[in-house]
Amino acid sequence: MEHFYLSLLLLFVSLVTLFLFLLFHKHRSPFSVPNLPPGAPGFPVIGESLEFLSTGWKGHPEKFIFDRMIKYSSDLFKTSILGERAVVFCGAASNKFIFSNENKHVAAWWPDSVNKIFPTTMLTNSKEESKKMRKLLPQFLKPEALQRYVPIMDSLAQTHFSSLWDNHTQLTVYPLAKRYTFSLACRLFMSVEDENHVAKFENPFQLLASGIISVPIDLPGTPFNKAIQAANGIRKKLLEIIRERKVNLGEGKASPTQDILSHMLLTCDENGQFMTEFDIADKILGLLIGGHDTASAACTFVVKYLAELPHIYDKVYQEQMEITKSKSPGELLNWDDINRMKYSWSVACEVLRIAPPLQGGFREALNDFTFNGFSIPKGWKLYWSAHSTHKNPEYFGEPEKFDPSRFEGEGPAPYTFVPFGGGPRMCPGKEYARLEILVFMHNLVKRFKWQKIIPDEKIIVDPLPIPANNLPIRLFPHKP
Ligand code: HEM
Repeated sequence: MEHFYLSLLLLFVSLVTLFLFLLFHKHRSPFSVPNLPPGAPGFPVIGESLEFLSTGWKGHPEKFIFDRMIKYSSDLFKTSILGERAVVFCGAASNKFIFSNENKHVAAWWPDSVNKIFPTTMLTNSKEESKKMRKLLPQFLKPEALQRYVPIMDSLAQTHFSSLWDNHTQLTVYPLAKRYTFSLACRLFMSVEDENHVAKFENPFQLLASGIISVPIDLPGTPFNKAIQAANGIRKKLLEIIRERKVNLGEGKASPTQDILSHMLLTCDENGQFMTEFDIADKILGLLIGGHDTASAACTFVVKYLAELPHIYDKVYQEQMEITKSKSPGELLNWDDINRMKYSWSVACEVLRIAPPLQGGFREALNDFTFNGFSIPKGWKLYWSAHSTHKNPEYFGEPEKFDPSRFEGEGPAPYTFVPFGGGPRMCPGKEYARLEILVFMHNLVKRFKWQKIIPDEKIIVDPLPIPANNLPIRLFPHKP
């Protein structure tokens, strides 16, 4: 009898449990027990940040990505980096998903370190600030404007090479490439031409670039702390330039269309509000960082690979000399000349494939969604990685081999070559960067051949790729 009551009780409990389970299950979203992508959260608090950053410091940022693609999934894996739970999207289909779902499933997001260095993003949010920036740029980066920049870039490049490269038998490339792209940015973004003025920004920009993607620990001596101090110093100098421009615009001594600074000062939003001086300083600061460090890394790697691969140097030289010969003495490069630099651009693209200046980009999940059968919860951070396709033999055979012919004919498959990202957030400075890199290559090969002084110089990625010793070279000027 006792057994009978016990069985009855058990049956009752089971039925109630089953009823509750079915009731709960029916009204439950697939995200209450999400099928998260495979992956590991790493250590408490820091997650896998150290491994994410240190594979870059050791020169192999792709190792973090490929180790996990092999262990978990070739399309996506979860991790925890820079204090956030994140999913890394890998491969062409994943890139396509991220680039095609802007503001539908994903939106702009910057790590805490970036937001703290750019306080205006804290007042609104990364998404709003990114929109604001994109609205301001087309005027400045539209095709007619870009065409006007070519002779200015050429003239500045000529002055740069004759004052800093000519008459040297040895020099270190990376700081000079930075000086070139930074001088151009100062000239074209803010009409600052005085080289002494430009030089004063150099050291703080170096500190800022090193701390911008770092563990956000604001203690004296940390890269993050140094970056904040540097950004404050640069902002102060930019505010002086902005105030001076305001006065000059008022007195008719500056033109409303002369550069992006005038444009920012004179453009209001849909509510008739003008940007504050502080906001403008932050935007210019962002542009100076995004717009010069990336291109200088690309120029530096052009020098490295042309030194290592003389047969490729010869073809670039031939192409550039044909352009030189077609011009009258003293005539500056123009838009048509740039469009004739096809082989040189394939070489630059191969540089951007092997050593992409930006390793990838962050987004935030705007809502719960599924991708490849895995749940991505709202608020999680997403990261697309250039290496997951650039260094993947599925898309680029023998990925370590430098081969510009990959960019001839139809070129790489869609969503596989992504040094500038893709979709609506693709880098708005892509064409500007193409011009400055090609003008650099033209002026360089026209003057010199060169050799690396350290044959097996290590590469460090922090967060941009740079040769560990800044690429010292021996220069051999061409005979006149
Ligand atoms: C070789 C040079 C360059 C490379 C490799 C590069 C690469 C990139 C990449 C990968 C992104 C992120 C896209 C994403 O998050 O999906 C980006 C964004 C951006 N780049 Fe560039 N860039 C270069 C030069 C420039 C230049 C010269 C400028 C300015 C004139 C510029 C301005 C920007 C801006 C404003 C954004 C943010 C766009 C947004 O948030 O929607 N970049 N760039």
